Amino acid sequence: MARKSHIVLLVIILHFIALVRRNVSFDVAGSEEFLFPKEALPTSSGYLTVNENSGARMFYVFYEAISPATEDLSKVPLILWLQGGPGCSSMIGNFYELGPWRVNEDQHLYKNDGAWNRLYGLLFVDNPVGTGFSIAPNEEDIPSDEEKLASDLFTALQAFFIKHKSYQSRPFYVMGESYAGKYVPALSYRILQELDKRNSGVNSMGMKSIPAVRLDGLAIGNGLTHPIAQVNSYAPVAYYIGLIDNNQRLSLEAKAEDAIAKINQKDWYNASIARGELLNSLSQASGLATLLDIRRKTDYYTYENGSSFLEPFLNKHAVKKAIGADISVTWVDCSSLVDNRMQNDIMKSTKWMVEALLHRVPVLLYQGQFDLQDGVASTEAWLQELEWNGAKEFLASKRNLWLVNETLAGYVRSYETLAHVVVVDSGHLVPADQSIISQTMIESWISGLNLVKNVLLGPDVVSKQALK
Ligand SMILES: *[C@@H]1O[C@H](CO)[C@@H](O)[C@H](O)[C@H]1NC(C)=O
Ligand SMILES: *[C@@H]1O[C@H](CO)[C@@H](O)[C@H](O)[C@H]1NC(C)=O
Ligand SMILES: *[C@@H]1O[C@H](CO)[C@@H](O)[C@H](O)[C@H]1NC(C)=O
Ligand SMILES: *[C@@H]1O[C@H](CO)[C@@H](O)[C@H](O)[C@H]1NC(C)=O
Repeated sequence: MARKSHIVLLVIILHFIALVRRNVSFDVAGSEEFLFPKEALPTSSGYLTVNENSGARMFYVFYEAISPATEDLSKVPLILWLQGGPGCSSMIGNFYELGPWRVNEDQHLYKNDGAWNRLYGLLFVDNPVGTGFSIAPNEEDIPSDEEKLASDLFTALQAFFIKHKSYQSRPFYVMGESYAGKYVPALSYRILQELDKRNSGVNSMGMKSIPAVRLDGLAIGNGLTHPIAQVNSYAPVAYYIGLIDNNQRLSLEAKAEDAIAKINQKDWYNASIARGELLNSLSQASGLATLLDIRRKTDYYTYENGSSFLEPFLNKHAVKKAIGADISVTWVDCSSLVDNRMQNDIMKSTKWMVEALLHRVPVLLYQGQFDLQDGVASTEAWLQELEWNGAKEFLASKRNLWLVNETLAGYVRSYETLAHVVVVDSGHLVPADQSIISQTMIESWISGLNLVKNVLLGPDVVSKQALK
């Protein structure tokens, strides 16, 4: 009898503990602590002023390196990450791709083992103003070309380096994905222009107090850089993997020709519309959930019903507070207002900037293999037209297997400052699809380690050998 009552008591106690625990976990789930464990908080975040008069400002989130190669942080590289669009927020990169914590479908954060801030400081900027948590008080604050966009970004970076003086000496890499195939060259080019001005003493009086922004290299993932060549790749790629038949191919190729004719007439607006129609037709003809990865059954970061799971998370009051975003801004993944403002920019090329940059700094182009839009063939198409004194040798260089832990991770080739990596089993968002491999790729490239013996020349090796 005594035994039985003990058991009853135990059951009651266990029940009570379970109840308390359930209630406690309920309370915590609703709090900031649970949404944002302390260790997930950024090192710093907030706003960088772009225009004092209008109040336009860019939102940023910075994470320091988790396990830097040296304790002397002044030598630890920094990576700037820019999302594409035009008008998509870098919080997609942060909370779904390469940041240290990712959001899952349950609206919780979990650790990303493939985070790009393992060895390097990682800076996400919502660019241009009007994107993500960045603020554009007037529509006119939103840029409509790469020049204004790069100039705003440069201003924001200067504000960042004034805020964080000790970071000014750190090697600096500009990286991004998709439409950032335009932003990354435009900003990099702008940085070099400013550095040249500074070195030649022009404007030296006014510029003394303003920090120089370093540039040590740039990387573009699944980028749109030279649309006139890239628009031609969609139809053949779709045809050769069986997504469309020959009639559909001919019809899509006619649309591509139309876009190209409009580019040649500098009818930028209609050229962009023509490309949009081409991609739309390809979507419909193929029936794919997204052109960004031919394997996917749903778009990236969406539930099965197609709604985004990043949006509800980033719009929680507690999340905005934790990352220092303006509470009054409603976060959307991609701003249609910014996209509209940038319409006339979309079909313009930044290939000439990449060509100029190749003379000065290392450039990495990488693509996930299953992207039908800005994938491998699309990049190869403009590389064939590259005008740079290493272009011939680059194109003649051997493509090598890239093995990580004796498993095929991709293909790689390089010559002097230019490296090209194809990542297997990945779509448009490489760090989302292949987190560890993407981390290995970036770390190998920056540290100058060879992905394949003597093949991928990263910045460290390039700076010693090829750059004159
Ligand atoms: C748990 O929460 C419920 C509802 O808020 C409440 O009725 C109950 O008393 C709580 N239990 C404990 C053990 O705190
Ligand atoms: C775009 O095309 C339409 C009709 O095809 C034409 O009326 C319009 O002027 C074009 N837009 C521009 C900016 O040239
Ligand atoms: C889509 O599904 C998610 C998860 O089941 C749910 O939270 C959301 O409310 C749904 N959205 C729509 C528009 O049905
Ligand atoms: C390769 O192996 C090392 C050591 O076991 C491990 O840390 C790393 O994550 C592996 N890389 C990949 C891409 O699996």
